[in-house]
Amino acid sequence: MSETVAIRAVVITLSDGGYAGRRVDDSGAVLEGLLNELGAEYVERLLLPDEELLLSEKLVHYADHTSANLILTTGGTGLTSRDVTPEATKAAIDREAPGFAEAMRAASLTKTPHAMLSRAVSGLRGTTLIINFPGSPAACKEQFEVIRAALPHALEKLADLGGDCARPDV
Ligand code: MTE
Repeated sequence: MSETVAIRAVVITLSDGGYAGRRVDDSGAVLEGLLNELGAEYVERLLLPDEELLLSEKLVHYADHTSANLILTTGGTGLTSRDVTPEATKAAIDREAPGFAEAMRAASLTKTPHAMLSRAVSGLRGTTLIINFPGSPAACKEQFEVIRAALPHALEKLADLGGDCARPDV
């Protein structure tokens, strides 16, 4: 049995330059558009500087005190000293869900070897799924396609719906 669970999402862009108004970051808008295409009930969008504590506090806030069941971050996954999105995410999650990040990175590696520079992670805080994306809008588009098919069932399982995946008759 499959039940539809509404997508209630927060998209957080991590960018010192964007936050300071020195550059325009399109990746958050790209992810918001893709979630709306999937029929999301709401998509809230934030732009933050690359500050680990600030991001982990926001992740905790949205997971614990709002109805969001999905948080996508974009940016801050690379190798510079200011890239702290994976650390902030690991501080906020209570369980790892590595399959999303693994599949996304593997798909991107078929396009560019630079994909291995992203340290993006994915995990759960309570019943909220948190997934890091790189800051490149093209990477976001490409990697969202990778998770698109699994997202509805993932949100079902987080809501304790979707039946028994291990039953012998399927
Ligand atoms: N993945 C895809 N698909 N396409 C890209 O252009 N850029 C890479 C990587 N992943 C890239 C990609 C590069 S160059 C970097 S530095 C890392 O993502 C981290 O990016 P971030 O710090 O903006 O998150």
